[in-house]
Amino acid sequence: MPEHIAVVGATGAVGREFIDLISHRNLASKKITLLASARSAGQKIKVGSTDCTVSELTAGSFAGVDLALFSAGGNISQKYAPAAVKAGAAVIDNSSAFRMDDNVPLVIPEINPQAAKKHRGIIANPNCSTIIMAMAVWPLHRVNPVTRMVVSTYQAASGAGAAAMHELETQSQDVLDGKDAKPQVLPFQVAFNLFNHNSAIDDSGYNTEEIKMIKETHKIFGDNSIRITATCVRVPVFRAHSESINLTFERPMTPDEARELLQNSRGVTVVDQRDPQHFPMPIEASGIDDCLVGRIRQDVSQPDGRGIDLFVCGDQIRKGAALNAIQIAELISA
Ligand code: A2P
Repeated sequence: MPEHIAVVGATGAVGREFIDLISHRNLASKKITLLASARSAGQKIKVGSTDCTVSELTAGSFAGVDLALFSAGGNISQKYAPAAVKAGAAVIDNSSAFRMDDNVPLVIPEINPQAAKKHRGIIANPNCSTIIMAMAVWPLHRVNPVTRMVVSTYQAASGAGAAAMHELETQSQDVLDGKDAKPQVLPFQVAFNLFNHNSAIDDSGYNTEEIKMIKETHKIFGDNSIRITATCVRVPVFRAHSESINLTFERPMTPDEARELLQNSRGVTVVDQRDPQHFPMPIEASGIDDCLVGRIRQDVSQPDGRGIDLFVCGDQIRKGAALNAIQIAELISA
């Protein structure tokens, strides 16, 4: 068990969830150091029942730290994760900075726990949409390989951080009050609207989030042959992502088989009631550990029975970020 944990980005949406999970799960440590920008230095945050003071992150912040949880963006990870490793800490990084580095494991504990053991100081936490998709697809893929996946996401504001969640709240109120919505954190009005995921578009026309989902899934599943395409969209939901997933398998798969495999999988709850309708909803996925999977049905466009459609919702801050990182920490500390 780590003696001293540092949380980098402690004032952010994921950072606060780290703190909550550290207090409630099996990762008790003697000391916790909360780090953020100079703007937040001196701020008090409760860890369990104790008030802890946030310090400014510097290269010298990691003396004596054995586990550092980073969630302050890729630039901060690039700059400070090596300093944490040099100081002797294992780093679990929630940013995209090291995910595709061949020397850095990219881990979802339910899927490739063995990869975590090979780390050389840094372990990357996958992208939130990738984790939520992989949780639903892996239990099926491991018994009947998926040859093609088509995913469309409905991503919550939380994925863009605490400030974006606040923007959704204030904009919604402004619009209801008859005022103009003023986008500041997200590029367009998020209240009562949806738009292409706010990441850069490359020459192929894909946005960065879509490329992450494709490449990271290949790395986590250890299979670059799966043909994957994605469309990522930001929607006016606070904190759980939803995804429509269409799968093609090597061999036929029935909805009953898929349902049974998912029902027996860790970290997944099947919510698939047709009458009265009860399927996964972001509001029911928020604040819980499991990803909810439902709308499990045969894809009628694939008459050979090799197609299955799913709908999944997962808490972006929890399993999509902080919980997965904490599970990795528990894995390497066991
Ligand atoms: P701060 O609150 O001091 O800006 P979110 O993903 O919710 O937007 O949170 C981002 C986290 O990253 C916050 O804790 C934020 O701290 C932290 N952060 C942003 N810039 C820096 C920086 N230059 N140095 C350290 N932490 C930073």
